[in-house]
Amino acid sequence: MKLFIDTANTDEIRAAATLGLLDGVTTNPSLLAKEIARRGGGEQEAIFKEICELVPGPVSAEVTATDYEGMVRQGREVAAIASNVVVKCPLTEDGLRATRTLSGEGIGVNATLVFQPIQALLAAKAGAAYVSPFVGRLDDISTTGMATVQEIVEIFSNYAFSTEVIVASVRNPIHVVDAARMGADIATIPYGVIMQLVKHPLTDIGLARFVADAAKYTS
Ligand code: E4P
Repeated sequence: MKLFIDTANTDEIRAAATLGLLDGVTTNPSLLAKEIARRGGGEQEAIFKEICELVPGPVSAEVTATDYEGMVRQGREVAAIASNVVVKCPLTEDGLRATRTLSGEGIGVNATLVFQPIQALLAAKAGAAYVSPFVGRLDDISTTGMATVQEIVEIFSNYAFSTEVIVASVRNPIHVVDAARMGADIATIPYGVIMQLVKHPLTDIGLARFVADAAKYTS
């Protein structure tokens, strides 16, 4: 399973990249607004460019237009920033049309704001390279987000779609474990949760004991 980081914060991306496990990045307008505020200003194009230079894998940059023409125009613009840009289009009627057009031009599209399996199927049929079911937001409304992922993985394997499933809106390590058990292609994970993946209290306790015992026979 590939691991992406879900952030536009370039310090977090740099820090996560040092682990050597980062396969890609996803951003969205909320994450970008947060990063611009953190920097005290800045242009989205420059930030996308910087992220694309930090991580060679796919970097999802979302369109902000909601109409077909606007999404296609913005999609072409962001795709021109770097060869690893993937255009994020929302799963709406216009978004599906834009997905079809951009994919037809060879531009990778990540269908975002996916909340049910049938939306994922439509995105795959429209040629999306990725679909992003938002599991945390489904959990927030008392629906099991990972059950949606399970159904999407099953549907895609029935028809051998090449569209990859990105488990998004990840809130905890259990989402990541479940994603791997279900055979999802990718989990996109906030920085804080990536750090949680590494940690186990028994690892820390065990290491402290080994270090103490090693001190008994090393100088
Ligand atoms: C996905 O690509 C989105 O950026 C993201 O996972 C949304 O997560 P949230 O529900 O925590 O905002």
